[in-house]
Amino acid sequence: MEEATILTMVKQAEKVNEFLKPFIIDEEKSAKIKAIFEQELELGLKHGLKGSSLQMENTYVMDLTNGKEEGQFLALDLGGTNFRVMLMEMHQGIIEKEQVEYYSVAEETRLGSGDKLFDFLAECIADFVHKNLEKGHPQMPLGFTFSFPIEQTGLNKGVLVSWTKSFNAAGVVGQDAVKLLNDAIERLRDLNVKVVAILNDTTGTLVKGYYDDKSTGIGLILGTGCNGAYLESAKKVVHWCGDRRDAKEVIIDPEFGAFGDNGCIDFVKTKVDRELDNDSLLPKSFTYEKYFAGKYLGELARLALVQLHQRGLFMSENDKEYKHFLEKDAFTAAMLPQTQVENAYIGEVLKQELNIQNATKDDWAILKHVCNILSQRCAILVAIPLSVFINRMDTKEHVAIAVTGSLYRFHPQLKDLLETHIRKIVPNRSFHTFLSDDGSGKGAGLVAAVAARLSH
Ligand code: BGC
Repeated sequence: MEEATILTMVKQAEKVNEFLKPFIIDEEKSAKIKAIFEQELELGLKHGLKGSSLQMENTYVMDLTNGKEEGQFLALDLGGTNFRVMLMEMHQGIIEKEQVEYYSVAEETRLGSGDKLFDFLAECIADFVHKNLEKGHPQMPLGFTFSFPIEQTGLNKGVLVSWTKSFNAAGVVGQDAVKLLNDAIERLRDLNVKVVAILNDTTGTLVKGYYDDKSTGIGLILGTGCNGAYLESAKKVVHWCGDRRDAKEVIIDPEFGAFGDNGCIDFVKTKVDRELDNDSLLPKSFTYEKYFAGKYLGELARLALVQLHQRGLFMSENDKEYKHFLEKDAFTAAMLPQTQVENAYIGEVLKQELNIQNATKDDWAILKHVCNILSQRCAILVAIPLSVFINRMDTKEHVAIAVTGSLYRFHPQLKDLLETHIRKIVPNRSFHTFLSDDGSGKGAGLVAAVAARLSH
């Protein structure tokens, strides 16, 4: 290769790196974010959302499975475009049978009126019950996974704080989602079902993780959205309505996707992050989640590549095909892991996914580099809260982190990256992450089963 060509390539690479620099979280930045997270966590435990961007909500789940759960339980899982209804049968604490039906939640239902949304949920439950349960069945206890921030005053009371991800149904914020669901169930008259618990998907994942592995102390969702619940010492929890019984630990839902909504870590924000937020369904909320969760990761990569194109650094001689990158969400988080492979294969991905036939080898390398940097940022930002939770669980020798979610499941390096960064932050603690299959669904059934056991 001629010297002049090499020089141009080096200069181009320098420009690309200069542009991507703000996405890099070095040790100093990471330590700063961690220190702020710890402060926000303490403030959240004391004052909730009034004092912090971390809600630190008491979930009132203070008992986990103990091997004595018996009977049939219904579970609901609402949080994405698919709504699930599940029937779980337990014998001596073991899940022996399960049946599931999926119902797709149309955009007009997610963004329409709250009453319509809850009527739709009740109709899905009715459809499921009529298909799967005998007529005249006894009243079915139901656990409701509602994967949004809620304020709880008990296990079966959850007032929606704000919608996130792809939901924005009118008239639900400020309302108790259990009451809305029970009312909708009653409107159908012939449904003998009672909501006994509402929970976040992270709570469900922790409970299901504990069912799989008794060293589980954290439930992480790393999918469309992101959040992680952990076991907190009950005496450190200020907000508690009603009887604490002799609780030693309780699950806390920090809602860490909203970390930074009060501006406390704005130094992390790049131009691309601001652009993504301005153009999102719910701007200026769920700041942390928007840095890395599955709903946003692909779009962040796309916006970064658009900026690089404008600087003549990506697909600069291929304007015609580059147009495929111009549509919002054209590049998705599901495509991102496919770029973490041999460069030559990236050409295939571009052809198949975006119909781009003529990208150059440099374009492939830049695409891979951008995705790599965003994956690293994702792993560090998720590792920070997890490390803080592990540190708080200082009486546990080993902390297992149960994970549910497509990003963790399908990204080939994310598990390793995440564990590497946690190890760097808490080098003296023993932990591992593991995929806990369907925490958000089965977890709801397990919480209902524990609630039923305690009420007998
Ligand atoms: C919600 C959380 C949820 C997370 C993962 C976020 O958008 O606010 O409640 O746990 O997504 O689904």
